[in-house]
Amino acid sequence: MDVAGIRMDNPLMVCSGVLGISAGLFSRIEAAHAGAVVTKSISLVPNEGYDNPTVTGVASGVINAMGLPNPGVDAFIEELGRSEVTMPIVVSIYGNDENEFAELAQRLSPHCSALELNLSCPHAGGLLAIGQDPDLVERVVRAAKEASNVPVLAKLTPNVADITKIGLAAQEGGADAVCAINTVKAMAIDIYQEHPILSNIGGGLSGPAIKPIGVRAVWDLAGAVDIPIIGIGGIASWEDVVEYLYSGASAVQMGTALGMYDIDHITRIKDELDLFCSSKELDYEGLCGIVRKRYP
Ligand code: SIN
Repeated sequence: MDVAGIRMDNPLMVCSGVLGISAGLFSRIEAAHAGAVVTKSISLVPNEGYDNPTVTGVASGVINAMGLPNPGVDAFIEELGRSEVTMPIVVSIYGNDENEFAELAQRLSPHCSALELNLSCPHAGGLLAIGQDPDLVERVVRAAKEASNVPVLAKLTPNVADITKIGLAAQEGGADAVCAINTVKAMAIDIYQEHPILSNIGGGLSGPAIKPIGVRAVWDLAGAVDIPIIGIGGIASWEDVVEYLYSGASAVQMGTALGMYDIDHITRIKDELDLFCSSKELDYEGLCGIVRKRYP
């Protein structure tokens, strides 16, 4: 199948920040039959991220604030050079402004199948400010698009009043697809120690708790944009995948569930999705938007 110019065997992608950090892990993700992997977000210079604790479990989900740790673009290009997979690798990038996004896009596009712009980390002040402002989103997407020769995906934040305005801005800037959603602003407090649990205080909620928020975002975007939508948020089963596809997504990304289960969970979901497709006598594309199209 082809989603925004990315050729994938199936619509199951691994989302940014979970496993896509080394050539060895790319091989394991491919062996688990993922359609594509999105890497950890990469910046121009190495970033250590926040002090621990950076992750905490809550009811129906996980809150994280890692602080975008990554080895920087030079080291990551070397890591991409060690990769032996044929599965598409989508490199997630982030910068402080459109010039940094453009430089990253220009340097990384020869080494990947597509770029995903992180316009949505809920606890990196600069990124959230970009991702909540349609004008900035359009400028950053346009700069990255002009600097690269691979598809450019814009990953959107749910932490806005109307995600369709941001999706339309990304489309206007030339995005080949939008990805929705990144995590939802959240925090947790240790009532015995009397302080926030995460070192950064605030973080982003992922996991089953946010699936209905993600499905609604995809539904709303499907009524607004003409480019493909990649659904993200709380996907842990084949039924979740179908719900996102029915809502208007062309593909999905999984993250938290792979931590709750294991990498082979992708294979289990793919096998069950294939059985469902056979029972409906449809291919993956045939599932896209089935319910959404009934509510124009
Ligand atoms: C992190 O590294 O803290 C998470 C990144 C993100 O939510 O985009």
